[in-house]
Amino acid sequence: MSLTKILLDESEIPTHWYNVVADMPNPPPPPLGPDGRPIGPEALAAIFPEALIEQEMSAERWIPIPEPVREIYRLWRPSPLYRAHRLEEALGTPAKIFYKHEGVSPAGSHKPNTAIAQAYYNHEAGIRRLTTETGAGQWGSALALAGQMLGLQVRVYMVRVSYEQKPYRRSMMQTWGAEVLASPTELTESGRSILAHDPQTTGSLGIAISETVEEAASREDTNYSLGSVLNHVLLHQTIIGQEAKAQMEKVGEYPDMVFAPCGGGSNFGGIAFPFFADKAAGHEVRLVAVEPSSCPTLTHGVYAYDFGDAVGMTPLMKMYTLGHDFVPPGIHAGGLRYHGDSPLVCQLYHEQQVEAVAVPQLATFEAGVLFARHEGIIPAPESNHAIRAVVDEALRCKESGEPKTLLFNLSGHGHFDMSAYDRYFRGELQDYDYPDSAIQEALSHLPKV
Ligand SMILES: Cc1ncc(COP(=O)(O)O)c(C=O)c1O
Repeated sequence: MSLTKILLDESEIPTHWYNVVADMPNPPPPPLGPDGRPIGPEALAAIFPEALIEQEMSAERWIPIPEPVREIYRLWRPSPLYRAHRLEEALGTPAKIFYKHEGVSPAGSHKPNTAIAQAYYNHEAGIRRLTTETGAGQWGSALALAGQMLGLQVRVYMVRVSYEQKPYRRSMMQTWGAEVLASPTELTESGRSILAHDPQTTGSLGIAISETVEEAASREDTNYSLGSVLNHVLLHQTIIGQEAKAQMEKVGEYPDMVFAPCGGGSNFGGIAFPFFADKAAGHEVRLVAVEPSSCPTLTHGVYAYDFGDAVGMTPLMKMYTLGHDFVPPGIHAGGLRYHGDSPLVCQLYHEQQVEAVAVPQLATFEAGVLFARHEGIIPAPESNHAIRAVVDEALRCKESGEPKTLLFNLSGHGHFDMSAYDRYFRGELQDYDYPDSAIQEALSHLPKV
């Protein structure tokens, strides 16, 4: 039998991040300010350090990874690539299934790849405090870890529904020294205005971003750190796809299709973009983002300029959006409850360079349990979305007899999501109807540009 775990040496940790902008058919549309005109770097200087603003706007293909960042990456990178022999056998599929396991990081997901980089550049710029938002708690834990490693204080606004569903994520962040608040809070104007309107709100990533940005913009000593969506975040995550490519090459394989769950787009961009470089050079490979059918940004959103947060504090970004004040149903894949998506992913989707599918909650848990029973690893609910799509494709291969090679990003483990699995086993989880009227209502509030 061929290898199950395909490993790289620490010396093979990539030395550069890959910037997809260099290979995109068209340059990305610029972010816009409140006056509808493109913003310059100075508009971001109140909340980001210069090095990250440069990366945000860069079109350079390769950006060097600072040595101190690579040094910290060594704690868990290179992450293993697995061949899912046992899952393949259980499905009876001729497809070969590979997965990159990002759950081996200390925080349990792909998020530390950018958290460490962001904390490093902020520290270098003399910043001593960071604020951020978190959905499921994966990003907040990653930044708490990074803050601890680089000597920065971290305050996390955690979406209320996740704060209640995932108390141990909160403890994890506290273990790494971060302060955690349930969002919306009474501490910010954004939080107070949302609570006045809907005191029982579950919260959302969009609302938590409003609170976080408000705080960072109003304090000299504090910067903002975002776990997805922005170009520099996707850039940092490309270490995943570069490693995966090298690992597949080691066993003489190349994927026909690459899958990843897609919330703000960072783990999808992270694994898919290095393969997009090959696609841009004429190589055949399909790149598939998988999203929840209750928050179907790419598959049902409109491609328009919209705010990144619920209240309208961020610059306008051109993206597929369900409307910035859309509050998605309280599914357990908290990291996928975002109204928008990375402008880079959106543009590639719009230009039909990448694909997207939406899957319902129960089917994702069914696939995650199947995966755990054969591969052992218990996936994060977000990762279950990619697993669902891969299992469906592998079953199609079984019907057609096609021996496709499938690769997906196992973006995190689910050890802090067992209450969601509990509810699934008790039959208490539900699928949500496509939230048509809520989306239509939110889309009617899109800013006029
Ligand atoms: C485990 C896991 N996978 C995927 C995601 C989706 O985020 P993104 O699309 O930005 O990678 C998250 C976000 O919190 C996550 O925690």
